[in-house]
Amino acid sequence: MDELDSIFEAASRARLLRNREVLLPDYVPLELPHRSEEIRRLAEVVAPALRGERPNNVFIYGLSGTGKTAVTKYVLRRLQELASQKGAMVQSIYVNVRQRETPYKVLADVAEQLGLRVPFTGLSIGELFSRIVKRLLLTLGSRESTSLTLFVIPMTETLALWRCSLTLVRS
Ligand SMILES: Nc1ncnc2c1ncn2[C@@H]1O[C@H](COP(=O)(O)OP(=O)(O)OP(=O)(O)O)[C@@H](O)[C@H]1O
Ligand SMILES: [Mg+2]
Repeated sequence: MDELDSIFEAASRARLLRNREVLLPDYVPLELPHRSEEIRRLAEVVAPALRGERPNNVFIYGLSGTGKTAVTKYVLRRLQELASQKGAMVQSIYVNVRQRETPYKVLADVAEQLGLRVPFTGLSIGELFSRIVKRLLLTLGSRESTSLTLFVIPMTETLALWRCSLTLVRS
């Protein structure tokens, strides 16, 4: 075993942290102590999605690190779990616009999370948007459900006025 092997070997055995994932910025704990009221209020707003209705937009504010993102992701994850048990079409899409700083990149991220492959650049915003809508309608068409709710979580003030949810209803 040469020196490099022994470094890798030692690193693969050393366990300083039981679960490194908890340090990632996107990590959402399984439980969120002291946030039950916020969780309940957000859940009440998004719950109509289970009936295929469009929930109201939500503006969440508070000091950095107080759990806005964690609460939102937690509630939407639970909503999505329940929706899939009930056969309701609810999908949440998380876009961190600190990393996706233009409308094109935001939409491209949304498209990718919906399973669409889009180029980094080259399409117009309108074209990108229409591909997303087509994709959503296609998803809708293959299911019995008549509507789909898509939650988009914007992450900065510039995008705070974006619609946070979009419900497409098949006519
Ligand atoms: N109730 C809680 N109990 C324990 N840890 C929590 C709780 N809420 C959030 N956290 C953790 O605290 C950290 C910060 O939370 P989060 O990113 O949700 O804050 P934020 O309000 O969205 O901050 P920012 O304004 O900077 O976006 C994360 O690691 C998250 O997992
Ligand atoms: Mg946040």
